[in-house]
Amino acid sequence: MDRRGIAILGATGSVGRSTLDVIERHPERYRVEALSAHGNPELLAEQCARFDARLAVIADPAKETELREALARHGARAAIRSGPEALLEVVSGAGVDTVMAAIVGAAGLAPTLHAAELGKRILLANKESMVIAGPLFHRVVERSHADIIPVDSEHNALFQSLPADFAERGLAASGVRRLILTASGGPFLHAGIDDLADVTPEQACAHPNWDMGRKISVDSATLMNKGLEVIEARWLFNADPDQIEVVVHPQSIVHSLVAYDDGSVLAQLGHPDMRTPIAHALGWPDRIDSGVAPLDLAAIGRLDFHAPDLHRFPCLGLAFRAMRAGGSAAATLNAANEVAVQAFLEGDIPFMAIPGLVETVLEAATWNEAARLEDIMAADREARVLAQAAVQRQERIDA
Ligand SMILES: NC(=O)c1ccc[n+]([C@@H]2O[C@H](COP(=O)([O-])OP(=O)(O)OC[C@H]3O[C@@H](n4cnc5c(N)ncnc54)[C@H](OP(=O)(O)O)[C@@H]3O)[C@@H](O)[C@H]2O)c1
Repeated sequence: MDRRGIAILGATGSVGRSTLDVIERHPERYRVEALSAHGNPELLAEQCARFDARLAVIADPAKETELREALARHGARAAIRSGPEALLEVVSGAGVDTVMAAIVGAAGLAPTLHAAELGKRILLANKESMVIAGPLFHRVVERSHADIIPVDSEHNALFQSLPADFAERGLAASGVRRLILTASGGPFLHAGIDDLADVTPEQACAHPNWDMGRKISVDSATLMNKGLEVIEARWLFNADPDQIEVVVHPQSIVHSLVAYDDGSVLAQLGHPDMRTPIAHALGWPDRIDSGVAPLDLAAIGRLDFHAPDLHRFPCLGLAFRAMRAGGSAAATLNAANEVAVQAFLEGDIPFMAIPGLVETVLEAATWNEAARLEDIMAADREARVLAQAAVQRQERIDA
């Protein structure tokens, strides 16, 4: 069997590490071509040595010397590139046919879009790039015929529960009525609104079911993660905004569901372990071992579902609003949220200031059609400036 050449954007992160864990189980199927990191040269070098990668890219240019030294120490042969532009090289090597897009945030957009332009198979974890540039991805993929396989567990579950030809036929012609995304509800599912005032970053990052990076953990705690996923689903599956619903499911066993015209509802179930959707995306259309234990439904016993509380978790409502507004609104929402989450993680603003800050920016920002990448990046830049100003105002209030 010809081995597939894999490049991983964000190899040192939670999804990147899980991807290498699955790849290591299948040396006969995959070879690692290129790996990237932002600020962790030591782990990147260790990964390059372990998988004999051809190219190592560190997005923070100040870390290039550290990376060079670490690669030599680990006896790795990889060539070195640095800086955000070098991320494009991760995906463009002739030996790369599959790209795992696992950078966190809008920083993942340019290399992921480049991979789509080159017609590579993209395993998409970096939801933010689809949220802010969904229509652009559609146009690029139409030309290049790149495959996009969703890795986010909810979208991977929807992908598995949809008919194989849904993209050509469209959801309506496939008999699909609704896409139902499940949400664990995060660590504060049962917290009263007053308890949320003093939440610390450590509490917000302690997700009950999933072990994830810090930014997505905070997004899960505010339910912004679910909001971003709603917008991601709208573009990945070309769904009408009114077709997408969210239901809270605290056990995180049912990863999402598709409701059909005849009343049937198909779901994908599994342990809350990203290696399952990663293995599905890597192997597709084959099924490969992920290392995840079999699901024991009798031991789990019960599966609960209820409606989300938009009063305690306003970020979800804000995301629906941005999706309906269309154009650059989702890029504005995403950028404002990235700034707000970073400020919260650094102790600059309280947890409950996140939704207010995002709403302020959404209301103040200039809306555009988001027809070109430049328009999206302009909205992203403006939102970051507005959000930084709002963080400073909040700091003055708290002082
Ligand atoms: N974790 C999950 O279970 C999960 C589930 C579904 C979807 N996702 C999505 O997958 C993506 C990755 O999430 P994660 O939890 O794996 O994040 P993470 O653990 O924080 O890892 C992020 C990766 O991106 C790199 N990175 C950070 N900032 C960068 C920048 N400015 N330029 C280039 N690279 C940068 C990091 O490098 P360093 O390590 O060197 O800083 C790291 O390799 C996110 O979009 C998230 O929403 C994650």
